[in-house]
Amino acid sequence: MTAARRAVVITGAGGALGGAISRRLASEPATDLVLSDVSEASLDATLAGLPDFDGAVETVLADVSDLEQVEAVVTRAVENFGRLDVLISNAGVLSANGRIHNLATEEWERAFRVNVLGAVNGIRAAVGVMRPERSGSIVLTASVSGLTAWSHAAPYCATKAAVIQLARVAAVEYARDGIRVNCVCPGTFRSAIHEGLPDEALDAIAARHPLGLGSADDLVGAYSYLAGDASRWTTGSALVVDGGYSAP
Ligand SMILES: NC(=O)c1ccc[n+]([C@@H]2O[C@H](COP(=O)([O-])OP(=O)(O)OC[C@H]3O[C@@H](n4cnc5c(N)ncnc54)[C@H](O)[C@@H]3O)[C@@H](O)[C@H]2O)c1
Repeated sequence: MTAARRAVVITGAGGALGGAISRRLASEPATDLVLSDVSEASLDATLAGLPDFDGAVETVLADVSDLEQVEAVVTRAVENFGRLDVLISNAGVLSANGRIHNLATEEWERAFRVNVLGAVNGIRAAVGVMRPERSGSIVLTASVSGLTAWSHAAPYCATKAAVIQLARVAAVEYARDGIRVNCVCPGTFRSAIHEGLPDEALDAIAARHPLGLGSADDLVGAYSYLAGDASRWTTGSALVVDGGYSAP
Protein backbone atom coordinates (compact mmCIF):
# COMPACT_ATOMS: atom_id res chain seq x y z
CA MET A 1 0.00 0.00 0.00
CA THR A 2 1.33 3.47 -0.84
CA ALA A 3 1.79 5.74 2.18
CA ALA A 4 -0.69 8.65 2.28
CA ARG A 5 0.90 11.89 1.16
CA ARG A 6 0.91 14.94 3.40
CA ALA A 7 0.80 18.62 2.47
CA VAL A 8 2.80 21.05 4.59
CA VAL A 9 2.67 24.86 4.60
CA ILE A 10 5.66 26.74 6.03
CA THR A 11 5.64 30.52 6.57
CA GLY A 12 8.85 32.47 6.90
CA ALA A 13 10.29 29.72 4.69
CA GLY A 14 12.85 32.09 3.22
CA GLY A 15 14.62 32.62 6.54
CA ALA A 16 17.31 30.60 8.30
CA LEU A 17 14.94 28.46 10.36
CA GLY A 18 12.19 28.29 7.73
CA GLY A 19 14.75 27.16 5.14
CA ALA A 20 16.15 24.49 7.44
CA ILE A 21 12.65 23.19 8.29
CA SER A 22 11.82 23.12 4.57
CA ARG A 23 14.90 21.03 3.78
CA ARG A 24 14.21 18.64 6.67
CA LEU A 25 10.54 18.05 5.86
CA ALA A 26 11.34 17.71 2.14
CA SER A 27 13.66 14.86 3.08
CA GLU A 28 10.82 12.98 4.81
CA PRO A 29 8.64 10.57 2.81
CA ALA A 30 5.51 11.49 0.86
CA THR A 31 5.65 15.21 1.64
CA ASP A 32 4.49 18.08 -0.58
CA LEU A 33 5.40 21.62 0.41
CA VAL A 34 3.94 25.10 0.09
CA LEU A 35 6.68 27.53 1.04
CA SER A 36 5.73 31.11 1.80
CA ASP A 37 7.53 34.30 2.74
CA VAL A 38 7.19 38.05 2.26
CA SER A 39 10.62 38.13 0.61
CA GLU A 40 10.84 36.70 -2.91
CA ALA A 41 14.65 36.59 -2.95
CA SER A 42 14.90 34.55 0.25
CA LEU A 43 12.12 32.22 -0.86
CA ASP A 44 14.03 31.61 -4.10
CA ALA A 45 17.16 30.83 -2.07
CA THR A 46 15.30 28.23 0.01
CA LEU A 47 13.83 26.70 -3.13
CA ALA A 48 17.29 26.44 -4.69
CA GLY A 49 18.63 24.73 -1.55
CA LEU A 50 15.99 21.98 -1.36
CA PRO A 51 17.30 18.44 -1.77
CA ASP A 52 15.99 16.24 -4.57
CA PHE A 53 12.80 14.80 -3.14
CA ASP A 54 9.79 12.79 -4.18
CA GLY A 55 7.28 15.57 -3.50
CA ALA A 56 6.12 18.74 -5.19
CA VAL A 57 6.79 22.28 -4.00
CA GLU A 58 4.84 25.49 -4.48
CA THR A 59 5.94 28.97 -3.43
CA VAL A 60 3.61 31.82 -2.50
CA LEU A 61 4.57 35.38 -1.57
CA ALA A 62 2.48 36.45 1.42
CA ASP A 63 2.57 38.77 4.40
CA VAL A 64 1.43 36.78 7.45
CA SER A 65 -0.12 39.85 9.05
CA ASP A 66 -2.79 39.85 6.32
CA LEU A 67 -5.43 37.12 6.75
CA GLU A 68 -6.41 37.06 3.08
CA GLN A 69 -2.82 36.50 2.02
CA VAL A 70 -2.40 33.64 4.49
CA GLU A 71 -5.66 32.10 3.31
CA ALA A 72 -4.29 32.25 -0.24
CA VAL A 73 -1.26 30.24 0.89
CA VAL A 74 -3.49 27.55 2.41
CA THR A 75 -5.68 27.58 -0.70
CA ARG A 76 -2.61 26.84 -2.79
CA ALA A 77 -2.05 23.67 -0.74
CA VAL A 78 -5.66 22.58 -1.19
CA GLU A 79 -5.72 23.37 -4.92
CA ASN A 80 -2.44 21.61 -5.68
CA PHE A 81 -2.37 18.80 -3.15
CA GLY A 82 -6.03 18.46 -2.19
CA ARG A 83 -5.31 18.86 1.54
CA LEU A 84 -3.45 20.57 4.36
CA ASP A 85 -1.95 18.31 7.01
CA VAL A 86 0.65 20.53 8.67
CA LEU A 87 1.06 24.28 9.14
CA ILE A 88 4.41 25.56 10.38
CA SER A 89 3.74 29.19 11.30
CA ASN A 90 7.31 30.39 11.55
CA ALA A 91 7.54 33.96 10.18
CA GLY A 92 8.65 36.43 12.82
CA VAL A 93 10.54 39.64 13.46
CA LEU A 94 12.85 40.77 16.24
CA SER A 95 11.84 44.11 17.72
CA ALA A 96 14.13 47.13 17.86
CA ASN A 97 16.52 47.41 20.78
CA GLY A 98 15.13 49.76 23.43
CA ARG A 99 13.51 50.16 26.81
CA ILE A 100 9.72 50.03 26.97
CA HIS A 101 9.20 53.79 27.27
CA ASN A 102 11.52 54.53 24.34
CA LEU A 103 9.99 52.21 21.76
CA ALA A 104 7.57 53.85 19.34
CA THR A 105 3.98 52.69 19.01
CA GLU A 106 4.76 51.64 15.43
CA GLU A 107 7.43 49.27 16.75
CA TRP A 108 4.99 47.64 19.16
CA GLU A 109 2.44 47.33 16.38
CA ARG A 110 4.95 45.80 13.95
CA ALA A 111 5.93 43.10 16.45
CA PHE A 112 2.33 42.28 17.35
CA ARG A 113 1.15 42.29 13.72
CA VAL A 114 3.82 39.89 12.46
CA ASN A 115 4.49 37.69 15.49
CA VAL A 116 1.04 37.43 17.05
CA LEU A 117 -1.47 38.29 14.32
CA GLY A 118 0.66 36.30 11.87
CA ALA A 119 0.26 33.18 14.02
CA VAL A 120 -3.44 33.89 14.58
CA ASN A 121 -3.97 34.23 10.82
CA GLY A 122 -2.14 30.96 10.23
CA ILE A 123 -4.38 29.13 12.71
CA ARG A 124 -7.55 30.72 11.29
CA ALA A 125 -6.65 29.79 7.74
CA ALA A 126 -5.46 26.27 8.59
CA VAL A 127 -8.37 25.20 10.79
CA GLY A 128 -10.78 26.17 8.03
CA VAL A 129 -9.33 23.33 5.97
CA MET A 130 -8.33 20.94 8.78
CA ARG A 131 -11.60 20.90 10.75
CA PRO A 132 -13.69 19.20 8.07
CA GLU A 133 -10.94 16.53 7.80
CA ARG A 134 -10.81 16.19 11.62
CA SER A 135 -7.02 16.06 11.37
CA GLY A 136 -4.01 18.36 11.34
CA SER A 137 -0.92 19.55 13.14
CA ILE A 138 -0.10 23.23 13.64
CA VAL A 139 3.35 24.24 14.90
CA LEU A 140 4.06 27.85 15.87
CA THR A 141 7.54 29.29 16.28
CA ALA A 142 7.71 31.03 19.66
CA SER A 143 11.01 31.66 21.51
CA VAL A 144 12.62 31.24 24.91
CA SER A 145 12.17 35.01 25.05
CA GLY A 146 8.50 34.20 25.66
CA LEU A 147 9.52 32.37 28.83
CA THR A 148 12.37 34.54 30.14
CA ALA A 149 12.85 38.31 30.32
CA TRP A 150 15.19 40.00 27.86
CA SER A 151 15.95 43.59 28.72
CA HIS A 152 15.48 46.01 25.79
CA ALA A 153 13.35 43.51 23.85
CA ALA A 154 9.90 43.85 25.43
CA PRO A 155 7.85 43.72 22.19
CA TYR A 156 9.66 40.55 21.14
CA CYS A 157 9.31 38.88 24.57
CA ALA A 158 5.66 39.90 24.94
CA THR A 159 4.71 38.72 21.46
CA LYS A 160 6.49 35.38 21.84
CA ALA A 161 4.79 34.83 25.22
CA ALA A 162 1.52 35.51 23.42
CA VAL A 163 2.40 32.88 20.80
CA ILE A 164 2.93 30.28 23.56
CA GLN A 165 -0.48 31.06 25.08
CA LEU A 166 -2.07 31.08 21.63
CA ALA A 167 -0.77 27.55 21.02
CA ARG A 168 -2.16 26.38 24.36
CA VAL A 169 -5.60 27.89 23.86
CA ALA A 170 -5.79 26.69 20.27
CA ALA A 171 -4.78 23.19 21.42
CA VAL A 172 -7.71 23.12 23.83
CA GLU A 173 -10.17 24.63 21.35
CA TYR A 174 -9.34 22.36 18.43
CA ALA A 175 -8.53 19.03 20.10
CA ARG A 176 -12.12 17.89 19.55
CA ASP A 177 -11.61 18.64 15.84
CA GLY A 178 -8.61 16.31 15.70
CA ILE A 179 -6.17 19.21 15.33
CA ARG A 180 -3.03 19.45 17.48
CA VAL A 181 -1.36 22.80 18.15
CA ASN A 182 2.12 23.12 19.65
CA CYS A 183 4.96 25.61 19.61
CA VAL A 184 8.74 25.46 19.60
CA CYS A 185 10.73 27.81 21.83
CA PRO A 186 14.19 28.15 20.27
CA GLY A 187 17.15 29.66 22.04
CA THR A 188 19.39 31.92 20.00
CA PHE A 189 20.70 30.63 16.69
CA ARG A 190 22.41 32.60 13.95
CA SER A 191 20.12 34.19 11.36
CA ALA A 192 19.36 37.44 9.58
CA ILE A 193 17.14 38.37 12.52
CA HIS A 194 20.28 39.50 14.37
CA GLU A 195 21.50 41.82 11.61
CA GLY A 196 22.42 45.12 13.19
CA LEU A 197 22.86 43.61 16.65
CA PRO A 198 26.34 44.55 17.93
CA ASP A 199 28.79 41.61 18.12
CA GLU A 200 29.18 42.17 21.87
CA ALA A 201 25.43 41.73 22.34
CA LEU A 202 25.47 38.43 20.43
CA ASP A 203 28.56 37.28 22.38
CA ALA A 204 26.77 38.07 25.64
CA ILE A 205 23.75 36.05 24.52
CA ALA A 206 26.00 33.16 23.42
CA ALA A 207 27.67 33.09 26.84
CA ARG A 208 24.29 32.43 28.46
CA HIS A 209 23.72 29.26 26.40
CA PRO A 210 25.48 26.32 28.13
CA LEU A 211 25.77 24.55 24.75
CA GLY A 212 26.66 27.79 22.94
CA LEU A 213 24.70 29.45 20.13
CA GLY A 214 22.70 27.06 17.99
CA SER A 215 22.12 26.81 14.29
CA ALA A 216 18.80 26.46 12.52
CA ASP A 217 19.64 22.82 11.84
CA ASP A 218 19.72 22.17 15.59
CA LEU A 219 16.00 22.91 15.70
CA VAL A 220 14.55 20.97 12.82
CA GLY A 221 14.13 17.70 14.75
CA ALA A 222 11.63 19.44 17.03
CA TYR A 223 9.55 20.56 14.04
CA SER A 224 9.74 17.13 12.47
CA TYR A 225 8.51 15.56 15.71
CA LEU A 226 5.63 17.99 16.25
CA ALA A 227 4.55 17.83 12.61
CA GLY A 228 4.46 14.04 12.51
CA ASP A 229 2.60 11.11 14.00
CA ALA A 230 5.24 10.48 16.69
CA SER A 231 3.73 13.45 18.56
CA ARG A 232 0.13 12.28 18.15
CA TRP A 233 -0.58 12.62 21.92
CA THR A 234 1.22 15.96 22.24
CA THR A 235 -0.79 19.17 22.07
CA GLY A 236 -0.56 22.54 23.80
CA SER A 237 3.14 22.01 24.47
CA ALA A 238 5.92 24.58 24.30
CA LEU A 239 8.95 22.52 23.27
CA VAL A 240 12.09 24.30 24.48
CA VAL A 241 15.15 23.76 22.25
CA ASP A 242 17.64 26.27 23.56
CA GLY A 243 21.07 24.77 24.28
CA GLY A 244 20.23 24.97 28.00
CA TYR A 245 19.58 28.73 28.00
CA SER A 246 16.51 28.54 30.22
CA ALA A 247 17.78 25.75 32.49
CA PRO A 248 19.58 27.76 35.21
N1 LIG B 1 17.24 33.45 15.33
C1 LIG B 1 16.97 33.26 16.60
O1 LIG B 1 17.85 33.32 17.47
C2 LIG B 1 15.57 32.95 17.02
C3 LIG B 1 15.34 32.53 18.35
C4 LIG B 1 14.05 32.23 18.76
C5 LIG B 1 13.00 32.31 17.86
N2 LIG B 1 13.26 32.73 16.57
C6 LIG B 1 12.11 32.80 15.66
O2 LIG B 1 12.35 31.94 14.57
C7 LIG B 1 11.56 32.38 13.46
C8 LIG B 1 12.43 32.42 12.23
O3 LIG B 1 13.43 33.42 12.41
P1 LIG B 1 14.91 33.33 11.81
O4 LIG B 1 15.83 33.46 12.95
O5 LIG B 1 15.01 32.18 10.89
O6 LIG B 1 14.99 34.73 11.08
P2 LIG B 1 15.02 35.10 9.54
O7 LIG B 1 14.97 36.59 9.50
O8 LIG B 1 16.14 34.38 8.88
O9 LIG B 1 13.65 34.48 9.01
C9 LIG B 1 12.41 35.12 9.21
C10 LIG B 1 11.66 35.07 7.90
O10 LIG B 1 10.34 35.61 8.12
C11 LIG B 1 10.05 36.43 7.00
N3 LIG B 1 9.06 37.42 7.39
C12 LIG B 1 9.25 38.53 8.15
N4 LIG B 1 8.10 39.21 8.25
C13 LIG B 1 7.18 38.53 7.53
C14 LIG B 1 5.82 38.73 7.24
N5 LIG B 1 5.17 39.81 7.71
N6 LIG B 1 5.17 37.82 6.47
C15 LIG B 1 5.82 36.73 6.00
N7 LIG B 1 7.12 36.49 6.22
C16 LIG B 1 7.78 37.38 6.98
C17 LIG B 1 11.35 37.07 6.59
O11 LIG B 1 11.33 37.53 5.25
C18 LIG B 1 12.33 35.92 6.82
O12 LIG B 1 12.53 35.16 5.64
C19 LIG B 1 10.98 33.73 13.88
O13 LIG B 1 9.65 33.55 14.30
C20 LIG B 1 11.86 34.15 15.04
O14 LIG B 1 11.22 35.03 15.91
C21 LIG B 1 14.50 33.04 16.14
